[in-house]
Amino acid sequence: MMKTSETRIGFMGFGHMAQILFQGIDRARIVPRSHISFIRRDAAKMKQNEQKFGITSTSLKTLVQESDLIFLGMRPQQAEEALRQLSLVGGLAGKQFISILAGTKIEALQKHLGPEAQVLRAMPNLASQVGEGMTVLTYGPRCTPDFKSLGNLLFASLGEIAEVPESMMDIACGMAGSGPGFVFRLVDAMARAGEKQGMPYPQALKIAAQAFTGAARLISKGALPADLLLQIATPNGTTQAGLDVMTQLQVDKHFQSAIEAAAKRSKELSESR
Ligand SMILES: NC(=O)c1ccc[n+]([C@@H]2O[C@H](COP(=O)([O-])OP(=O)(O)OC[C@H]3O[C@@H](n4cnc5c(N)ncnc54)[C@H](OP(=O)(O)O)[C@@H]3O)[C@@H](O)[C@H]2O)c1
Repeated sequence: MMKTSETRIGFMGFGHMAQILFQGIDRARIVPRSHISFIRRDAAKMKQNEQKFGITSTSLKTLVQESDLIFLGMRPQQAEEALRQLSLVGGLAGKQFISILAGTKIEALQKHLGPEAQVLRAMPNLASQVGEGMTVLTYGPRCTPDFKSLGNLLFASLGEIAEVPESMMDIACGMAGSGPGFVFRLVDAMARAGEKQGMPYPQALKIAAQAFTGAARLISKGALPADLLLQIATPNGTTQAGLDVMTQLQVDKHFQSAIEAAAKRSKELSESR
């Protein structure tokens, strides 16, 4: 059995999300930088990234040959071409792959990578940048227990992880992948309520953001939202007045519709591939 720290990781695609993952792995010292290489299409950016991150770029052939684990970090619309290039290089049987491609099923990936490839499908989110990410993961049928431990370890370096069956990936994408986007809108709306009453926007934003952070932290310590609501909403009080309007306007239902729309889009994407 190979030691985790001996794993050689190759990033195919080294854009925004791949760089965040690299930084998490690097901060957590999961593997040494000398065991990590990458490739991207833009030669100038490749040089810049080498200097910035202290890792080397390589050819696709060498990346495949020398990596135990290959991270697929391209955009969904770039995937077809990238996967074709990978299958032309060959030698993929038994290799480990991590895909963060939104709406791309393991079965579709395995058509290019071959039935022997170990495929982990992961959906991280933007908050991974600050170590507060939420990554949902689903493992393909070929994944070994060792690869599962490694995959969990890598994404745990970016925040929380949750393993789900692949049938849950669309809704998980709506909640975890797109979730921060919905929260940005809600925090902004709360801050604008303060601004409307004359408070400077930066101050209102700080207050609104901390209300979300604090509330989320209470829940992450194990408290249930329904119990916390009972504590905070005294009859005839201020919170209850606001909650009554939320009930009247069916805010919960509309918010759920937004998440369902994101999940539906993820499903449409996966069915089109
Ligand atoms: N951003 C998020 O919050 C987020 C969250 C969850 C999941 N994701 C997923 O993460 C993936 C990447 O998103 P991103 O925001 O990181 O995109 P990005 O910044 O545009 O990065 C894409 C990278 O893929 C490279 N690439 C494309 N085709 C390639 C090929 N044939 N060979 C080698 N490299 C290739 C690009 O290289 P060049 O730029 O050099 O051409 C670039 O480095 C997407 O599939 C997305 O669904 C993103």
